[in-house]
Amino acid sequence: MLRIGMLTSGGDCQALNAAMRGVVKGICSKVDDVEIYGFQDGYKGLIYGNFKMLTSRDFSGILTRGGTILGTSRQPFKLMRVPDKDGLDKVAAMKHTYHKLSLDCLVILGGNGTQKTANLLREEGLNVIGLPKTIDNDLWGTEMTFGFQSAVDIATDTIDRIHTTATSHSRVFIIEVMGHKVGHVTLHAGIAGGADIILLPEIPYDINVIADVIEKRDKAGKSFTILAVAEGAISKKDAKLSKKELKEKLEKDKKKYPSIAYKLAEEIQEKTEKEVRITVPGHTQRGGSPCPFDRVFSTRVGAKAADMIMKGQYGYMVAMQGGEMTKVPLEEIAGKLKYVDPKCKLIKEAKLTGISFGDE
Ligand code: F6P
Repeated sequence: MLRIGMLTSGGDCQALNAAMRGVVKGICSKVDDVEIYGFQDGYKGLIYGNFKMLTSRDFSGILTRGGTILGTSRQPFKLMRVPDKDGLDKVAAMKHTYHKLSLDCLVILGGNGTQKTANLLREEGLNVIGLPKTIDNDLWGTEMTFGFQSAVDIATDTIDRIHTTATSHSRVFIIEVMGHKVGHVTLHAGIAGGADIILLPEIPYDINVIADVIEKRDKAGKSFTILAVAEGAISKKDAKLSKKELKEKLEKDKKKYPSIAYKLAEEIQEKTEKEVRITVPGHTQRGGSPCPFDRVFSTRVGAKAADMIMKGQYGYMVAMQGGEMTKVPLEEIAGKLKYVDPKCKLIKEAKLTGISFGDE
């Protein structure tokens, strides 16, 4: 008998269901006696013992379904050691649920914070396997995370649609793309959508450079400009602040502007006197069906996890390196973010084609 617990934690994304389907199909094709415990709403389900018993049938027909059949929630890592409002020790509660159900392992689908907690559970002696989920593609140790390519598709589609309307108006259009503190989605969607300016958290921008690009385009007869900005983009001025000063500055900005796009719009309007319009696709970037790449990739991730379970290889996150499926120790990747390298080839090539990153 193999008893597997499964949970999806943090923000959802496309292909969560596809990845779980991959795990279950992989196991059930080899092992007859399997019990699957689906914990509801992420770590919350494991803490409070909320789960549903699932069979392989529950994982049929969900390859293309967005969201997660288990539900999810954000349970910040920094609060895991803090008792809940009733004084419950969350880590002890999770271990209790695991042992009470005599689980052989936990399959945990999530991003950075989720993998940190998975590593904590490993340290506490539980058998865990992490699956790399996030549209942000910011997990250390893996070239790819599922959700990323689907989000790039959606953000690109948004930029494409703005492009057609932009050509009819002499305006600046700002499209704000998700990605938390990293710029992978913006970089790829920006290039794919033909943005004129791409702003990433990893390359602080100078508003005068941006104004210059817009004016030069104007003089060259290109009266509109498309700017793809990552939600975590930051100005050169702010990048010089200390960590504490920056935190205070961002808090102040938050009170004035709903997000970075609005701040930029004000600054651009002041500098160029151009009309500016903002589009924030927001959570649409995490919604809908996974794209074909994510369906294939999450199936590979699931199959690799199934293989690891059958070999008893625990304490790892499934990863892709050099295009191959592999595993990386959770302790090596937990808490590390994979940023866009400002010196990477893709950025050099994008700059060669005339895309500005607002920095020079
Ligand atoms: O990590 C995925 C992500 O979509 C980020 O890109 C974004 O900053 C964040 O989640 C939004 O979180 P929430 O869904 O909690 O608003």
